[in-house]
Amino acid sequence: MAKSPTHYLCQSCGYQTVGWMGRCPDCGEWASLLEERATNERDRGRRIVTSSASHCATPITAVDSGALNRVSTGLAELDRVLGGGIVPGSFVLLSGDPGIGKSTLLLQASMQIAQKDGVVLYVSGEESLQQTRSRASRLGPLSDRLLLLPETSLQMILEQTDRIRPTILVIDSIQTITSEDLESPPGSFSQVREAAVGLMALAKEKGISTVIIGHITKEGAIAGPKAMEHLVDTVVFMEGEGHQIHRLLRTVKNRFGPTPEVGVFEMTASGLQELANPSEVFLAQRPSGAPGSVVIPTLEGSRPLLVELQALVAAPSAPISRRVFNGVESNRGILLLAVLEKRLGLPLSACDVYVNVVGGIRVGETAADLGIAAAVLSSARNLPLDPGLCVFGEIGLAGEIRAVPMAERRLEEAARLGLSCCLMPRHNLDRRQPDFPSLRVSGLRTLEELTERLKIRQAVGSHD
Ligand code: TYD
Ligand code: MG
Repeated sequence: MAKSPTHYLCQSCGYQTVGWMGRCPDCGEWASLLEERATNERDRGRRIVTSSASHCATPITAVDSGALNRVSTGLAELDRVLGGGIVPGSFVLLSGDPGIGKSTLLLQASMQIAQKDGVVLYVSGEESLQQTRSRASRLGPLSDRLLLLPETSLQMILEQTDRIRPTILVIDSIQTITSEDLESPPGSFSQVREAAVGLMALAKEKGISTVIIGHITKEGAIAGPKAMEHLVDTVVFMEGEGHQIHRLLRTVKNRFGPTPEVGVFEMTASGLQELANPSEVFLAQRPSGAPGSVVIPTLEGSRPLLVELQALVAAPSAPISRRVFNGVESNRGILLLAVLEKRLGLPLSACDVYVNVVGGIRVGETAADLGIAAAVLSSARNLPLDPGLCVFGEIGLAGEIRAVPMAERRLEEAARLGLSCCLMPRHNLDRRQPDFPSLRVSGLRTLEELTERLKIRQAVGSHD
């Protein structure tokens, strides 16, 4: 077997060079280039991909779409994020911080699938058989069709998978898998890529759906998920604040699903419980009559979610005033404070401003702008907002309120949860007048109109 020439691979970003360098010229990392001595790439590829069917061209109409054969994970929120279940032969990456609940989620899904649909092979390179079993016994009934394999060798895993031919293969985690062909340490860029390519070839060839766990570090920099994202069909990201019990699953990429989706779970003593009605939970502990609190209907993928947004405007605690944004992007927050100061003459630069989205939720869309403005105004004036009020809209630099997508869905959720009034962009109303009898809707064009609305409420008191 011919030996391929030696090359050096940056373990942080994947940059390749034929000569060693002390610092990666691409990502700037020091001492990250490691020699990669592998057997011939072509031979490795051939050993992994042996199918002959894939060498023939096929009419597109003759290809089985697989859409009808999705395997349900038994967890509706996970199915939603995957676009309706696991597509046979698909390759899914679940990433997130260590300790967030990835193993718990996949063990729960594996147990459900083993109960109903078929054999699941759960490969754990991190936990012993006993540890996995003791965790599983708290999560639900056990089934013979869930097979555990504590293994880290890629070759052994491929061999066992090929022999067992499970419906679903779970790898926990990609960072622990080592190929005997490579000398780089587990978790390095080369090892992760090698394991991903090997597992994917098997998944595609034998139609085995594979779900892989990949940790990310606090810097989000570890080779794992980044080295794999372009290879896999679906990337699902699990997030949540460490001290919060809510966990959000987000689709970052999905070749089998129409839109970015979100699933919401609660971590309990018996595993992750689905939250079919998250808005209710996020609003459950809202203080009544507190200035600075407002409800915003935000969209997570195509799903409307009502969350509480709070602002606190306070006298500065240090010579330089502070801005803290939790759950909203800080650059956006700073921009909005500047617009409020300039357009409404609020003396915010002389105050500390804190903005927080309750429940550990992160709101990434500009439709939250008007909610932030309303909460800041409410706190600055020490004026509680109507408890039945919700607010959404984008704010431009001139203080204009701009239209946002899917206004109807936000209003629908607000009406469903029993809110009584909504301030929203006038432009959205001009396009289409919503029809929710229990919800009074007012359209705004400028920030001045927002202050007018809030002043009226101060004068007449809270309505309803
Ligand atoms: P885990 O799934 O091991 O995280 P990951 O695989 O992402 O590293 O989850 C670990 C945390 O979840 C741990 O802090 C304990 C908690 N947990 C529960 O609260 N309830 C449970 O039923 C289980 C299994 C875990
Ligand atoms: Mg784990």
